Amino acid sequence: MRHWPLTRLTLTTPDLVLRVPDDEQLDELAQVAADGVVPPGAVYFPQPWASGTPEQTARNIVQNHWWARGDWREDNWRLLLAVFRDGRVIGQQNLSARDFRITREARTGFWLGLRFQGRGFGTQMRAAALHLAFAYLGAERVTSTAFADNAASRRVSEKFGYEPNGVRRLAVDQHLVEAHEAVLTVERWHGQPQQPTLVEGFDECQHVFGVPTAPEPIDVVLHL
Ligand SMILES: CC(C)(COP(=O)(O)OP(=O)(O)OC[C@H]1O[C@@H](n2cnc3c(N)ncnc32)[C@H](O)[C@@H]1OP(=O)(O)O)[C@@H](O)C(=O)NCCC(=O)NCCS
Repeated sequence: MRHWPLTRLTLTTPDLVLRVPDDEQLDELAQVAADGVVPPGAVYFPQPWASGTPEQTARNIVQNHWWARGDWREDNWRLLLAVFRDGRVIGQQNLSARDFRITREARTGFWLGLRFQGRGFGTQMRAAALHLAFAYLGAERVTSTAFADNAASRRVSEKFGYEPNGVRRLAVDQHLVEAHEAVLTVERWHGQPQQPTLVEGFDECQHVFGVPTAPEPIDVVLHL
């Protein structure tokens, strides 16, 4: 699409491709969500988008993507990428920020269909989002929030060297949950072994992130 430059952005990891989905791919993504994202009874998100019926969950995904596009502003953006494995959609990686030009801070979120979890894909997804944020957008900090009992999500952050950044108490579905925020600084990110990510199409969409002067990207060679 000529007039929505984000459609040209592609992140490639050893096993995955991350892109803004077209409507057909969005429909596939919605089906993956409808087939299940969290184990029965688990609550991993502040908004219960994945806890309703399959039909409600699927529609939440579609509407959320359309809303994020419609509401995109240079000072308040939410990049929602579909994650593809061998051409099939398996989950979603988010990177969002408010007033990024000034704060240089972004936050991530991610999910995979249940059957795709626990195979290292979430780690590659996070690596791709961090690479875009730090090496291309010039982020200084990236945060991630996970509920206390979400061991997989918290472990992914731990693997990248995030540090604890406080605990918030939330009421979700009338229950108390503790949301643990973790933060990764660009200095700590540089100190970690880099996971290979190839970023394409960034030049065409750099301006929509509100960062006219991002630093020179750091090349990480990807051996496919
Ligand atoms: C969170 C999520 C995206 C992570 O993706 P993933 O592909 O499952 O994660 P990975 O396989 O890359 O890594 C998970 C890590 O957590 C560890 N882990 C998983 N379950 C664990 C548990 N119950 N206790 C301790 N460690 C656990 C894994 O061993 C792995 O660590 P390792 O590489 O050191 O062995 C995925 O599990 C998911 O979609 N969960 C449901 C939705 C969700 O919780 N989203 C995040 C909301 S904050």
